[in-house]
Amino acid sequence: MTCPAPPHHIAIVMDGNGRWATRRFLPRVAGHRQGVESLRRCVRACVARGVRVLTVFAFSSENWSRPKDEVSGLMELMALALGREVPRLRDDGVRLYFVGDRAALSDRIASGLAQAEAATAGNDKLLLNVCFNYGGRWDITQAAARLAQKNEPITEASLGRALALAHVPDPDLFIRTGGEQRISNFLLWQSAYSEFVFSDRLWPEFDEAALDDAIDAFHKRERRFGQTSAQVAGADGLTTA
Ligand code: IPE
Ligand code: IPE
Ligand code: MG
Repeated sequence: MTCPAPPHHIAIVMDGNGRWATRRFLPRVAGHRQGVESLRRCVRACVARGVRVLTVFAFSSENWSRPKDEVSGLMELMALALGREVPRLRDDGVRLYFVGDRAALSDRIASGLAQAEAATAGNDKLLLNVCFNYGGRWDITQAAARLAQKNEPITEASLGRALALAHVPDPDLFIRTGGEQRISNFLLWQSAYSEFVFSDRLWPEFDEAALDDAIDAFHKRERRFGQTSAQVAGADGLTTA
């Protein structure tokens, strides 16, 4: 039996770090540190399975409203993770790309992101989009504002091209860990026809087996994109419409 092709693009809301830490009587930032470990494991698993694009939600436009010490802990962790993870990602063939509003970030973080992108620009095994200070509403708004500024007509195609994730096809599989079943302002436009899988695992506990479960669930779905089942089957040459 041949294995079905892996989803080309997987998007993940990496949720549950805080609860993972609190359950262990640790500060929330310890959960975020563990979350970085989990991301490293997930990236390697995606490379091994032939996934070509992984897009992860690391910090939302709304996460600024968390307690000051958690926000500064997350910024510090990003700076640390850049220093530690970029050489590994470069060696593993992963290309890094950051998505989000960089204007609100410190110069240190913003230049760290640019350096990480430059250092991995030659890689093509997996494209890792890290959404940082990102929100789906921000993205749609910035895209519309750019078109308006250039006096370009707003169509579905032109708006799509102006979005921050225009360099990749829409996600096939959208995973949220941590038990919540909501989008929380992640890929509002791009998830129009993604298959959703919600996992009760907290992000630090989302391992290779959990990823495989999500991919298996994806393979059991029938993606119809507005068509009927018979049409979709016909496209595979199994039945005629
Ligand atoms: C997700 O984990 C990471 C970020 C939002 C930065 P949380 O910090 O939201 O973890 P929970 O949902 O509180 O457990
Ligand atoms: C979404 O998780 C953002 C990230 C994972 C970075 P949140 O924890 O912020 O989402 P809500 O607040 O539970 O909806
Ligand atoms: Mg959360």
